[in-house]
Amino acid sequence: MAEHEIEDLPGVGPTTADKLREAGYCTIEGIATASRSDLVEAAEIGESTAKKMIKAAREMADIGGFKTGTAVLEERKEVRKLKTLVDEFDDLMGGGLETKSISEVYGEFGSGKSQISHQMAVNVQLPEDVGGLGGSCLYIDTENTFRPERIEQMVNGLELDIEIPPVSEFLEHIHVAKGYTSDHQMLLIDSARELASELKDSEKPVRLIIVDSLTAHFRAEYSGRGTLSLRQQKLNKHMYDLAKLAEEYNAVVLVTNQVMSNPAVFFGDPTKPIGGNIVGHASKFRLYLRKSKGSKRVAKLVDSPNLPDGEAAFLVESAGLKSI
Ligand SMILES: Nc1ncnc2c1ncn2[C@@H]1O[C@H](COP(=O)(O)OP(=O)(O)OP(=O)(O)O)[C@@H](O)[C@H]1O
Ligand SMILES: [Mg+2]
Repeated sequence: MAEHEIEDLPGVGPTTADKLREAGYCTIEGIATASRSDLVEAAEIGESTAKKMIKAAREMADIGGFKTGTAVLEERKEVRKLKTLVDEFDDLMGGGLETKSISEVYGEFGSGKSQISHQMAVNVQLPEDVGGLGGSCLYIDTENTFRPERIEQMVNGLELDIEIPPVSEFLEHIHVAKGYTSDHQMLLIDSARELASELKDSEKPVRLIIVDSLTAHFRAEYSGRGTLSLRQQKLNKHMYDLAKLAEEYNAVVLVTNQVMSNPAVFFGDPTKPIGGNIVGHASKFRLYLRKSKGSKRVAKLVDSPNLPDGEAAFLVESAGLKSI
C-alpha cells in the first residue's frame, strides 16, 4: 500500500500542513478520524475545506466504508482466542483474548497488569488446542518492567498435559523493545510491523503484541490541561496503528493502562483509565483489575459490546496466574 502524506489531501498546502502537524495531525489516518471542528481550529481553515479534507483522508485510509454482514462474518471467522488458562477469567471473556482487536487491562499499581502481560507472552506460544496461538510475542516495554526471570517462573509453572519446550525457546520468541518516550513508543510500531511481516510465514508468526504501559509516557509528557487534546490525538493515532496491526496479522493486541490518580489534573474519577474514550472505544475488551487479599486479584469486564459485564477472581503466584 502506498504511503500518503497529508499534503496529498485537497486544500493542504505547505502552510496548512505545518499547522496540522504542529497540532498533532501528522498522518492521513489522524485526519480521517479527526472531527471537523478540531481541524478548523488546528489549521485555521473553513468548515467546508475541513469536510473535504476528512472525506478524502477517509477514502485514502480506507476508513468508514460499508461492508456486508457476510464479509464481516467471514472476517470474524478468522478470530482466534488466547487463553489466560484461568478458567473463570477465560469464561469472563467468552473464551479468551481475541485476535484482530485490542484488549485493555487497567488498574492501579501492583494490580497485576504486567503479570498478565508476562503470562500471555508465555501462553501465546502454546499450541492452539491447549489455549495458545502457536505464535511469537512482541513486547513494547515502556516502564522497564519486563523480566525474563518471571517468564522462566511462569513456564515452569505451566500445568498442562503436553511436553513443554525449554524456557530458552520461550524467551527466544518474545521480542522486547523498550519505549523511551511517547514518540519513540509510537515509532516502535513501524519496527513491530517489520518484524511481524518478517515472521509472517515462519513457524511462530506474531500473534500477540503487548504495550506495557500504553499510557505512562503520554501521561508524564502531556500533563497540563492545555496539552490534553494533543495527547488524545496522539493516543488516537497510536491505537489506530495498533488496531491495524492486530487486524493485519490476526494478532491479539494487549495494552495496559493506569487509572487517573490525580483528579485535579485529569478532572475525572480516580478509578477511570487514562486516555478515556479514545482508548476505550478502540478496545474490544476492557478489563478493570483490582487488588484483593494477598495474591488475589479481581478482573471486571467493562462495557463489552457482546458479553455481559462480570467479574473473575484469580491468583498471581510465583508460578503465574492461577485459579482460586
Ligand atoms: N514472582 C512473583 N511471585 C508471586 N507474585 C508476584 C511475583 N512477581 C509479582 N508478583 C505479584 O504481582 C504484583 C505486581 O503486579 P504487576 O507488576 O503486574 O503490577 P502492575 O499492575 O503492572 O503495576 P504498575 O502499574 O506499577 O505497573 C506484586 O505486587 C505481587 O503481588
Ligand atoms: Mg506494570
